[in-house]
Amino acid sequence: MRNARFLEIFQLVKAYPNPFGEAIRVVDGFDLIVPQGELVSIIGHSGCGKSTVLTMIAGLNAISSGGIIVDGHEVEGPAPNRAVVFQSPCLLPWQTAFENVMLGVKSVYPFASKKDRVALVEHNLALVGLAESMHKYPREMSGGMQQRVGIARAIALQPKVLLLDEPFGRLDSLTRMELQDVILGILDRQHITTLLITHDVDEAVYMSDRVVMMTNGPGAKVGEIMHIDFPKPRDRLKIMEDARFYGYRERLLRFLDDCGHAKEAAKKKPAATPVAAGV
Ligand SMILES: Nc1ncnc2c1ncn2[C@@H]1O[C@H](COP(=O)(O)OP(=O)(O)OP(=O)(O)O)[C@@H](O)[C@H]1O
Ligand SMILES: [Mg+2]
Repeated sequence: MRNARFLEIFQLVKAYPNPFGEAIRVVDGFDLIVPQGELVSIIGHSGCGKSTVLTMIAGLNAISSGGIIVDGHEVEGPAPNRAVVFQSPCLLPWQTAFENVMLGVKSVYPFASKKDRVALVEHNLALVGLAESMHKYPREMSGGMQQRVGIARAIALQPKVLLLDEPFGRLDSLTRMELQDVILGILDRQHITTLLITHDVDEAVYMSDRVVMMTNGPGAKVGEIMHIDFPKPRDRLKIMEDARFYGYRERLLRFLDDCGHAKEAAKKKPAATPVAAGV
């Protein structure tokens, strides 16, 4: 049965030191519960703390206070059940697509047979459309192809949670749409609980079950949450013709616009009050 509280984030706080050594709560009281298999997008202004939240879930960034539970276990560091895809795939340039994906598979499945590992790597590269190019080096691949390798590398670990931090941010709009569909196609089959950080409201509406709108930092938290009611699998053309698409889009844009005004007003005020160090 689907776990309704698969990923739980409660009262999450991250305090970073400012140049004067004072701890500033960039994120303060971020709460979110994500059911198993749901795709949730997070949008918010640049610098509000989206990547900070995502890297804390990944276990790559220490939590100041609050907690994160994945499938009943508190996050205490990185683990292969949470895979991350960043804006740049950071592939090893001296290794082929196949070898780059194999690297992670080997470390997560050290006891699997070579045959099984090869099958897993080939299967996942085929899923992202690289069946014909898996022995190419990064220099022989376009940015979009390299990001496909990054996605295959993450999916091949068979994670329970997929964390995507603006994975299409550097790609042209056509490649972006192709890769959105690659991810949606994979998730339609594998139902991996997914968080997607994006600045693109159309992408958020097209891909998500829910969109989390984050308030401005410091002290950023969940502002509003919007459910997207389009059925899955998603059909881009049908969605574009649906009046609800424009309603969702408008609500997101309005939220971002209101936050933008708040940001301008905050700039005119004195700096945020620091909190006690070590929070
Ligand atoms: N290691 C760090 N030390 C100090 N401050 C940091 C550190 N990492 C991030 N910050 C600050 O925390 C805030 C949130 O950063 P974060 O990268 O999480 O924002 P973001 O919402 O992902 O922004 P963007 O949309 O531009 O990627 C920013 O003000 C940033 O300067
Ligand atoms: Mg970021």
